[in-house]
Amino acid sequence: MSNRMWGGRFSTSPAAIMEEINASIDFDRKLYAQDIRGSKAHAAMLADKGIIAPDDAAKIIEGLDAIKTEIDGGRFTFTRALEDIHMNVESRLKDLIGAAAGRLHTARSRNDQVATDFKLWVRDTLDHVDRQLEDLMRALLDRAGEHAATVMPGFTHLQSAQPVTLGHHLMAYVEMFARDRGRVQDARRRLNECPLGAAALAGTSFPIDRHATAAALGFDRPTANSLDAVSDRDFALEALGAASIVAIHLSRFAEEIVIWSTAQFAFVRLSDAFSTGSSIMPQKRNPDAAELVRAKAGRIIGDLNGLLIVMKGLPLAYQKDMQEDKEQVFDAFENLSLCIEATTGMVRDMKPDVDRLAAAAGSGYATATDLADWLVRVLGLPFREAHHVTGRIVAIASERGVELSAVPLSEMKAVHAGITEAVYGVLTVDASVRSRVSYGGTAPDNVRAQVARWIAALG
Ligand code: ARG
Repeated sequence: MSNRMWGGRFSTSPAAIMEEINASIDFDRKLYAQDIRGSKAHAAMLADKGIIAPDDAAKIIEGLDAIKTEIDGGRFTFTRALEDIHMNVESRLKDLIGAAAGRLHTARSRNDQVATDFKLWVRDTLDHVDRQLEDLMRALLDRAGEHAATVMPGFTHLQSAQPVTLGHHLMAYVEMFARDRGRVQDARRRLNECPLGAAALAGTSFPIDRHATAAALGFDRPTANSLDAVSDRDFALEALGAASIVAIHLSRFAEEIVIWSTAQFAFVRLSDAFSTGSSIMPQKRNPDAAELVRAKAGRIIGDLNGLLIVMKGLPLAYQKDMQEDKEQVFDAFENLSLCIEATTGMVRDMKPDVDRLAAAAGSGYATATDLADWLVRVLGLPFREAHHVTGRIVAIASERGVELSAVPLSEMKAVHAGITEAVYGVLTVDASVRSRVSYGGTAPDNVRAQVARWIAALG
């Protein structure tokens, strides 16, 4: 039998392999709620404009609601021969209400229909990601508040650089995730124009009201160009772009958690809830969740690249290539949601080892910059000379195998006669972080102020 939705001009059915390569129902069934929502808005508008009879519209809407209930309840039989979610729903509508079902597709094409459904799905998903990121920010703020004064090493080149506080480090991620939310919200704003009524590509001769369907579906306005409406997938690309940036932020943090939870660093301990064991090495506690967050960033970036490459050579308007947009977007956001939630869990769960962090913060001559700054501030040396003097004192400490605070005053004086006992006051890590009071610096009071600012901003 030829296809019951478009088979008029066909005398035989498609090859089995044609059906297999063509069908999208196995993945686009995810769009059923959006498809039904869009169709209900379309049917109501057609009746309001006198394009179809009110009775037919009422039957269509009732039938669509019944189909939604069937699918929600797992009682719907999806058919590959009907290709996609749009035709599976419409075909079932015909079973339920008869000939009136055939009026639903007036002044509409699957091209504007799928663009509308997919935009509705991406919009819901962006809203979900936005809420998840807010939860993650709140978890980070809680921990940053607790650890506003917990000193730890700050790194550049993964070498000890200057002491910072753990709260400050966590707050760096609050800033990143806040910008991520901005990108997600911005993508949503740009996406929010309704393609429905663009029809196949050229618009329609029926007196439809696209402003009405746009408003009914929560869009800000209809799209202004029918060709663009059915050809545009940059809303999906932009969402994937925003998702990829979130994912690399999560991945950088995950990498830190992996490093921090090694026996060699031992900065934090993940509880049993976020660790796994080894089947052969009984001592192991592996940070698998963090490793998977790191890995999934690669996968999400792959989804973005995949769709960019699908789209890059397509002439206007709709091409079947565009059916390949959905799996990449579904995959990316399914994994992104998992990653955000797992990261939120790890943030709430991890136990920083405050003594270890303090000891590590004090090693590796991390207060050398404080010594150089003291030479500038107290002895009036030019910074370059202070840098040189400090370098020589670090060399002495290194030869003796001690930290800066354990270099005897006599040896310091041999490098620069003006150095006094008071210098030891700036060589502790606590003094170092307390002194970093410039706006955005790591001083505990600054960190507390930033935590309070963000808590107020989130409300
Ligand atoms: N399943 C199709 C897709 O996802 C729907 C649009 C089909 N349009 C067409 N002209 N064949 O893109």
